[in-house]
Amino acid sequence: MSEFSMKTLMFLALLGISPQGAAAVTHSLKYIFTASSGVPNFPEFVTVGLVDEFQTVHYDSNTRRAEPKQDWMSRVTAEDPQYWERETQACLGKQQAFKANIETAKQRFNQTGGVHVAQRMYGCEWDDDTGEVNGYDQWGYDGEDFIAFDLKTETWTAPVPQAVITKHKWDNNKAEIALYKNYLIRECIDWLKKYVDYGRSSLLRTDLPSVSLLQKTPSSPVSCHATGFYPDSATLIWRKDGEELHEDVDHGEILLNHDGSFQMSVDLNLSSVTPEDWRRYDCVFQLFGEKNDIITKLDKAEIRTNWEEPSNITIPITATVVVLAVVLIAAIGFIIYKKKKAPENSSELSENLNHEQTHHPAHSDIMWDNKTVNLTPPVKAV
Ligand SMILES: *[C@@H]1O[C@H](CO)[C@@H](O)[C@H](O)[C@H]1NC(C)=O
Ligand SMILES: *[C@@H]1O[C@H](CO)[C@@H](O)[C@H](O)[C@H]1NC(C)=O
Repeated sequence: MSEFSMKTLMFLALLGISPQGAAAVTHSLKYIFTASSGVPNFPEFVTVGLVDEFQTVHYDSNTRRAEPKQDWMSRVTAEDPQYWERETQACLGKQQAFKANIETAKQRFNQTGGVHVAQRMYGCEWDDDTGEVNGYDQWGYDGEDFIAFDLKTETWTAPVPQAVITKHKWDNNKAEIALYKNYLIRECIDWLKKYVDYGRSSLLRTDLPSVSLLQKTPSSPVSCHATGFYPDSATLIWRKDGEELHEDVDHGEILLNHDGSFQMSVDLNLSSVTPEDWRRYDCVFQLFGEKNDIITKLDKAEIRTNWEEPSNITIPITATVVVLAVVLIAAIGFIIYKKKKAPENSSELSENLNHEQTHHPAHSDIMWDNKTVNLTPPVKAV
């Protein structure tokens, strides 16, 4: 987690996207808190809760209510009628704490006004298969890492001098550190297991994708594209004579679709392959835990393209223009997507905030609110 930048986090949080795909059988519970000052038309405090890829909870300073974002999260009240009320109170407390934190941070950074954002992300991960657990707690300020808990050494790490005061203060509280650790590797995991159980039908489902072969131009690589699969623990490979190919193969990233399913593609450069040899190739999609692979033979007739065969060169010019326009729009869309996915500098922040998307779950099960609220205690107190 440590190399994961707060800038990316900030943006992903606003989209409600979990930055790490769940590995094979790893489940995760994560809370992301975003407090801002000086950003018009954006709630000054937002809490997002996520279980695996799903937003489960939302709280913001406008609604002032912690609310479920998945039907199955409502089931928590069957055993625990006070759950949402308790969450709401915890979020209200955090909202106050973060307001104070921003003020303290501004002092530490000698800032008087402007737009500022404080964030925190904590959570835990549980491998259903091995039982292995992990936890983290990271704080950020204005898009940079501020302080983070290192579960291995049981100390706080401060990458910026302005956080050193906080580090010393928090490191000295051994009792609190023991509570943190216990929360991250035990309580958090217990909640996670409970949520996974509630959301079983969504979280533990498997959906197979539709797989197609695409090619931009006759000399482009052939792309094997799988979309609509869930979960994201999947592989997509090219084979020749049944053996996985590594050369001339380009793997794309796994991307999240709007409906919560995933897509990915793998390109194969066929420039040195003779037409007779094409039939020796196939593309194989495999979902973790699913027995049936989806095998797609490399077949010219099955490839979807954007170009016309030379014999059809007399097609009306308008059709070509339409195709070009579609390609262009797709290209622009892709560039915008890439840009939005990984903002490079914090000057993009206010733009991102204003383009806030729909969801922001809230957190739940925090036992150390009162102890941790003062991320950045007044300078004079230390
Ligand atoms: C803030 O201002 C004080 C006093 O002018 C100075 O000593 C300190 O280095 C400044 N800190 C930063 C982060 O600029
Ligand atoms: C495909 O491979 C050929 C040589 O084998 C190379 O010249 C060409 O640039 C490659 N195309 C792509 C898109 O990588």
